[in-house]
Amino acid sequence: MEQYNFTYNDIHNTVRAAAEKIKASGFEPDYLLAIGGGGLIPARILRTYINKPILTVSLTRYSDEIGTAPSETPIKLQWLEPDTNLDGKKVLVIDEVDDERTTLEFTLGHLFEKHPDTEFSAFVVHNKLKEKKGALPEKLSHFFTGEDIHDYWINYAWDAVDIDQFGKK
Ligand code: G4P
Ligand code: MG
Repeated sequence: MEQYNFTYNDIHNTVRAAAEKIKASGFEPDYLLAIGGGGLIPARILRTYINKPILTVSLTRYSDEIGTAPSETPIKLQWLEPDTNLDGKKVLVIDEVDDERTTLEFTLGHLFEKHPDTEFSAFVVHNKLKEKKGALPEKLSHFFTGEDIHDYWINYAWDAVDIDQFGKK
């Protein structure tokens, strides 16, 4: 299978260009909201260009039950504090890749349910052009993508065990 290697510089440059698109759209978020773990580094890079506080939620595919297979749908591992008031705010939800769209559907669904008076948009660094299992909520105000790419496996710099050898052949 063909693969992409995205270095830290590649990712940073893609996020910078996306920040320009986000600004040009007129969507001015009050908060950046990272979906952990993949969305954490992209959110922090984006803050260099769109300087707003970062909130985080974290998902897992594994329940506490020993020996269980990864679940089809994500499980909330950590979420916003119940008293986090986002009424009337604009929030940009950030992840690294939109693959099958399961994560975005799940996360945005929960966010809209708990925060009906918040304007949410989403940004992914990489969007795989493929048939998606999940759907984006109709209420989503914008969907920003850094790059629309083929359905290849992506190697991200942050997964490298030896970063000095990453991407070299
Ligand atoms: P989704 O992110 O669109 O929902 O797609 P899917 O459910 O298929 O993704 C399952 C996990 O696989 C996600 O990680 C996603 O980021 C990761 N993934 C999908 N495609 C690629 C790829 O090409 N390269 C890499 N490195 N990862 C990919 P996760 O469960 O959210 O884990 P985390 O890393 O965010 O903690
Ligand atoms: Mg993820």
